[in-house]
Amino acid sequence: MSLVRFGVSIEEDVLAKFDNLIKKKGYANRSKAIGDLIRESLVEQEWKSGKVVAGIITLVYDHHQRELASALTNTQHDFHQIIISTQHIHLDHHRCLEVVVVRGKPQEIQGLADKLRSTRGVEHTSLSMATTGKHI
Ligand code: NI
Repeated sequence: MSLVRFGVSIEEDVLAKFDNLIKKKGYANRSKAIGDLIRESLVEQEWKSGKVVAGIITLVYDHHQRELASALTNTQHDFHQIIISTQHIHLDHHRCLEVVVVRGKPQEIQGLADKLRSTRGVEHTSLSMATTGKHI
């Protein structure tokens, strides 16, 4: 992909804060940091526009909770069209962490995340909004 240089006018103090922030985050220069911010906005837009996106749903739960594991499995079968992969990690004697990698319409992914989150006994759910990379 060819690179384009462009000029940006911005308040001095805002730029100083930005430089300070990206330095803490480990960026070597502004170009990569600004490029990442732009792509972040594009991904956000993908999720709003209903295009096919990718995501990761993370769950933490106690597998001793009655019928929870089978309820979560049932839900995942209901959404099998959008689930690419599920990884189950036994965190300790009681707790499981599950990572569900998905690709599909944002509404479907959100629907799956909501259903998993609202399942009795699920202690933590997060949805990481990623992209297929096709539209950014
Ligand atoms: Ni487990």
